[in-house]
Amino acid sequence: MLRLIYTSVQVPGFDRLAFEQLCEQASQNNRNLGIEGLLLCNGMEFMQCLEGPREAVSSVYKKIVKDPRHSDIRLLVSETTEELMFEKWSMVGLGTRPQSALSGESIAYTLLDHRLYRPWKSLGLGAADLIYEYAKVKAELEKAGEMGLLSKVFDVY
Ligand SMILES: Cc1cc2nc3c(=O)[nH]c(=O)nc-3n(C[C@H](O)[C@H](O)[C@H](O)COP(=O)(O)O)c2cc1C
Repeated sequence: MLRLIYTSVQVPGFDRLAFEQLCEQASQNNRNLGIEGLLLCNGMEFMQCLEGPREAVSSVYKKIVKDPRHSDIRLLVSETTEELMFEKWSMVGLGTRPQSALSGESIAYTLLDHRLYRPWKSLGLGAADLIYEYAKVKAELEKAGEMGLLSKVFDVY
């Protein structure tokens, strides 16, 4: 299995509806290909983790880099893996919210920190750590049988 993580910059005017449609399209395609993943959107940038069968992930990634909805694509991680961090997610989209919009509960629950509020581009390769932290959040919520909390903490698409 192959895991890729990249950041990119959204095209101007890309809004919530566009993000919703993109997540819908991506998860539908991915379901048929056995690809799992997470797509983060902070209002300006994307960060995506794609994982699954090597050939399928490579061919979808080739399409993604040509997609006019974003630019400045920076591949941060390309690694072989036995375990899928985002198993059964196809492609979950999460919109990160400004700190002020978070409830006390959600702040306490998440592992979010200042890195969410800086351009991901400025974090270099370290940006990929955020994806691994989200994978931990997912694993913890699953273990606790609390997946419903996800939508309290994030805008889930
Ligand atoms: C940020 C971003 C993430 C994307 N993620 C995926 C994805 O995970 N899977 C996918 O099939 N397409 C994804 N796409 C869309 C592809 O670029 C492309 O439009 C799509 O695969 C074409 O689908 P089609 O062959 O069904 O027309 C993404 C596009 C962008 C801009």
